[in-house]
This record gives sequence, structure tokens and C-alpha cells, in this order.
Amino acid sequence: MNETIKNIMTRRSIREYKSEQITDEQLNIILNCAKNAPTGCNKQPWYFIVVQNKELIGKMSRLCFDENKKKGYPWYQNEDYYSPFYDAPTVIFVLRESKSNEWSYFDCSLATGNIVLAAKSLGLGSCILADAMTLFDKDFKETYYTELNIPSGYVPHIAIAIGYANEQPEEKILKENDIDIIK
Ligand SMILES: Cc1cc2nc3c(=O)[nH]c(=O)nc-3n(C[C@H](O)[C@H](O)[C@H](O)COP(=O)(O)O)c2cc1C
Repeated sequence: MNETIKNIMTRRSIREYKSEQITDEQLNIILNCAKNAPTGCNKQPWYFIVVQNKELIGKMSRLCFDENKKKGYPWYQNEDYYSPFYDAPTVIFVLRESKSNEWSYFDCSLATGNIVLAAKSLGLGSCILADAMTLFDKDFKETYYTELNIPSGYVPHIAIAIGYANEQPEEKILKENDIDIIK
């Protein structure tokens, strides 16, 4: 099996991180991989905001935990607290051009896929964080658009936690009978 295939097959979401920060070189490679994703009509309809400020990540975590619990998300209900960002030292927000074409959702998701695979290939862990999007619910949107410097014309697409893994996730069971080949 070649290294690219092995990388894809062994990537897992990481939910526990070491506090050690990733290097700027690693970050640049990851962002470059994101920017090399294919896009409909080569629009590249994205913008990336990287947060490496521990205090800000802690503040966003607290808000998302409290609000997600209030919303009734089941995986928060039996917890006093945990960081929905898993206390990762780096968080990348992928933003999507709000007035791009109908494929922009795909484009930004492909960039997200490149981010997690690039991280894995550099020996880093990652986790895509839909739960973080609570930051942009109507009550908090204005605050976090300002705090994160979200440029006008862009909307948050997804957030991704990145850092050195401090856990080894169990092997994933893949769904069966989900492929048909017509020859
Ligand atoms: C769109 C999307 C949103 C996700 N949101 C979260 C999240 O908020 N929190 C989390 O812990 N994992 C999140 N995940 C990770 C999934 O739970 C994970 O990919 C899935 O369980 C499969 O595990 P694997 O990534 O280890 O293969 C998300 C994944 C995707 C693709």
C-alpha cells in the first residue's frame, strides 16, 4: 500500500491533544494542501482563519459546551464540562464565500478533507468540529464574527481542531454493502 493510501486509511478523528503547538511550517503545509483542493470552476471560494490563542480557544469551548448542552445535544447531557474543541492548540476555521456558486459547499468540504489528511501525513491529529458552529448562532454571531475577524462576504463553513494526538482511537468498523459496481 502506498503512503497516500495508508494515510487515508489510517486517519481518525482525535479528541485528546498534547499542549505542544504545531510548527508554522506544518501549518503552512496544511493550509497549502487546503488551497490545492479542487473547486467548481476553480473558484477557490474560501478563506481560512487560524486560531492559536489558548485563551480564545478556551472561551469558545466554554460557550459551545454550555450552549450545546442547552440545545439538548445528547453527547453533552451527562457531562459537567469538556472542550468541544478538545483543547487542541490550533483551530482552523474554514469560511465559504457567501455569494459563490452552488458548488462552494463541496469546495470548502474538499479543502477540509485536505486539511485533515495533510495533518495526518505530518504526524498530527485532527477533528472536524460541527459542534463549534454554535459560535455563529444568532445570539453570538456578531461577537464571534468580530472576534475572529471574519471578512465580509464570507460565512463560517466548519472548524477543525489540529495538534499532536494524545490518544490512539480504536479501529473503525466500516459499513458494509454500500458499494455497487456496474460493468
Ligand atoms: C461534517 C462533520 C462534522 C463533525 N463534527 C464533529 C464534532 O462536532 N465533534 C466531534 O467530536 N467530531 C465531529 N466529527 C467527526 C466524526 O464524528 C468522525 O469523522 C466520525 O465519527 C468517523 O470517525 P473518524 O473520523 O475517526 O473516521 C465530524 C465529522 C464531520 C465530517
